[in-house]
Amino acid sequence: MRGMILAGGAGTRLFPLSQVASKQLQPVYDKPMIYYPLETLMSSGIRDICLISSPHDLPVFQRVLGSGEQWGVDLSYEVQPEPGGIAQAVIIGESFVEQDPFALVLGDNIFHGEIGLKPLISTFGGGAVIWGCRVEDPQRYGVIEIDSSGSVVSIEEKPDNPKSDLAVPGLYVYDGTAVSRAKDLTPSSRGELEITDLNLSFLDDGQLSAVELGRDVTWMDSGTHESLLESSAFVAAIEREHGQKVACLEEVAYNMGFVSLKEIMQTIEKMPKSPYRTYCERSILG
Ligand code: TTP
Repeated sequence: MRGMILAGGAGTRLFPLSQVASKQLQPVYDKPMIYYPLETLMSSGIRDICLISSPHDLPVFQRVLGSGEQWGVDLSYEVQPEPGGIAQAVIIGESFVEQDPFALVLGDNIFHGEIGLKPLISTFGGGAVIWGCRVEDPQRYGVIEIDSSGSVVSIEEKPDNPKSDLAVPGLYVYDGTAVSRAKDLTPSSRGELEITDLNLSFLDDGQLSAVELGRDVTWMDSGTHESLLESSAFVAAIEREHGQKVACLEEVAYNMGFVSLKEIMQTIEKMPKSPYRTYCERSILG
């Protein structure tokens, strides 16, 4: 399965920070935010990844992340000229997707714990799969209702009277029909191709199911000053508690068998002397 990361958008809520760097390049404790969705895909075994961002920010992602070779992944890049909606990314990624299934993750969504993407990839038979996460304030999100078999009964965007407390996080798995479905969508009142409308297209054909995130999984959307601070505090606390880094991509790549010991050693040797390098040396080289 291929992976797509959506890292464009306006980042309005993060002004004035977003003047300095795009939202997905802001620090989440000790790494740029984009490392976390990359970890989500890589730790599920995905190695063919396309990152989509604005013309202004894409060159910075290319400089920071490169070809992905250092992590044994193939990173390609596509431009989204204007923030025309999350579903527009699916159209932009058409030549990357070809007709294959893919996982789409939003560049400001952080998942920690077993989200179930890896087992899903090995059993995925078509249609679309989304996730549901129990939240206290479902009114702020897309909200799903699911039946006992995991089929989605309804999705509503920011409902006043939510039918459940299951919010939809920014992680979606689609079969190759997603591209033509996205092309058939009409822009919403805010002028965007909405991801909820793409999901509704699968729902209308009885092809949308959902996985409920376990209580031990943490999901954070880091798009506001408060949630950005909370994400940093969360990662710092986890790393302190476990003595292990979250989203250390060198460690993920090595543990996943994407790179050999010799290759990862060469990558680490190129790093400046820093706590991050010391961690890589200690955790990988022993
Ligand atoms: P949002 O947080 O909904 O939008 P935003 O990033 O523009 O931020 P704000 O509302 O503060 O202006 O976007 C969710 C994710 O999707 C985020 O990682 C950016 C990405 N995105 C795109 O890449 N292109 C788009 O057209 C949109 C709408 C979002």
